[in-house]
Amino acid sequence: MRQSKSSKWNNLTSKKSLIDNIKENVLSKIKPREKDINLVKRVAKDVKERILKEAKNLDIDISVQLVGSAARDTWILNGKRMDIDLFVLFPTNVDEKFLEETGIYLIERAMEGWTLKQRYAEHPYVRASIDKDIDGEKMHFDIDIVPCFDVQDPSHIISAVDRTPHHNRYVMERIKGREGEVILLKKFLEVLGIYGSDNKTKGFSGYLCELLIIKYGSFEDLLLDASNWRPPIYEGIGCYDKKDPLIFIDPVDPKRNVAAALSYNNLCIFIDASRNFLENPSESYFRKREIVIKTYDELKNFFTERRTYILAISLHLPDLAEDIIYPQLERSKDGIKKGLEENSFKILNSYIYYNQDEAMIIFEFEVWRLPKITKHIGPKVFDKKSADRFKEVNKDYKVFIEECRYIVEKERNFSSPDEFLENNILKCALGKDIRRLIENKEYNLSSMEELLIKKDVRQFLSEIYFR
Ligand code: UTP
Ligand code: MN
Repeated sequence: MRQSKSSKWNNLTSKKSLIDNIKENVLSKIKPREKDINLVKRVAKDVKERILKEAKNLDIDISVQLVGSAARDTWILNGKRMDIDLFVLFPTNVDEKFLEETGIYLIERAMEGWTLKQRYAEHPYVRASIDKDIDGEKMHFDIDIVPCFDVQDPSHIISAVDRTPHHNRYVMERIKGREGEVILLKKFLEVLGIYGSDNKTKGFSGYLCELLIIKYGSFEDLLLDASNWRPPIYEGIGCYDKKDPLIFIDPVDPKRNVAAALSYNNLCIFIDASRNFLENPSESYFRKREIVIKTYDELKNFFTERRTYILAISLHLPDLAEDIIYPQLERSKDGIKKGLEENSFKILNSYIYYNQDEAMIIFEFEVWRLPKITKHIGPKVFDKKSADRFKEVNKDYKVFIEECRYIVEKERNFSSPDEFLENNILKCALGKDIRRLIENKEYNLSSMEELLIKKDVRQFLSEIYFR
């Protein structure tokens, strides 16, 4: 049973005022001020007008909508950078090819003079970037301009992005006055490393944050509830039956879970952080801790003292979107791990390091050196039929009897992980593009020393081990 809002905080009055204080302080730093909001709206309006004008020239019937956090004033103030999401709505009577080709053409023409990059979600869209001088300050703007279909019923969409204008309307009608709560929640999640629904982060999307605030009313009321969550959690009424840890039915499409990307582990991180924050509220939950990058020697000593063994598979990645390649790297990591474990190696930790053109699957081994031989245990002596077969198969080996069973000692296939990977990596389950790279020998096995030379990798490892 959910208690009423006031009674929930009855015994926590002093804590509540501490939290209010923290919220106010944090928001004074990360909540866009009126002038920031006006600036974003002005740039968005300017871009919108450019697109409409170009559409008129080309005689294309479209409308343009500002969506996402810039439309809802729920974005986090981030120094000199501003992100804007604009959707270009096409009538449903044009086909997808037209939308993709003409849509992109229209956007690129309209945005002449900006730095343009074509990107892919389910459909292509354009990221237009520019540096502008605003009151003597250099500001950077990234505008994602996405063509979509103007569908009337969001449960019957043509492409996944067609829901967005409906999400926008839903949130705009309900979020007024609670923008700060959304911003605090986003920042809290960002610091935990679980903000974003991309395949790498597997966290909370901006839209999910907004829906959670609409439902719970405030940041701390959400946390109070979340600190007692026991997944799976089901929010809303819909017809979604997949086994996700958090199911938040999309209010504009009851077949969809807004939290589908959220991983079990990341939900646990949120639940735990909610408890910790309420136990001991502090501004530090909204500040990313600066980590000091360890030196080559420090990290080398660190692993030497742990007496573990590090080995990595480095891959030179082709130009593929992160959202496509990342799940493949995960699948490959799991496949290789399984192969190693089937050969008696024991893995303590495994990670994916990813940076645009290079990726690494890094293993830290608990057991990596194995004797040359291993025991194969056969059937019971008095199980005659199996015994005969075992002896036949092992006729080249000396057969022992131990505890009533036949035993042979054989050489292992691999006595080090390096040896296993050099010979057997292609026998492991791998992502499609990763397999192709490995077939083409576009990979290396890297030792700990080779890894630690790279500063980015040292940073990656420092973040994991010295957070
Ligand atoms: P964003 O990822 O930019 O989220 O998606 P946001 O709500 O603006 O939050 P922040 O503050 O930038 O982090 C912009 C819009 O695009 C839609 C969402 O509905 C969101 O409103 N979207 C996003 C999709 O339709 N599909 C996606 O895969 C991602
Ligand atoms: Mn956005």
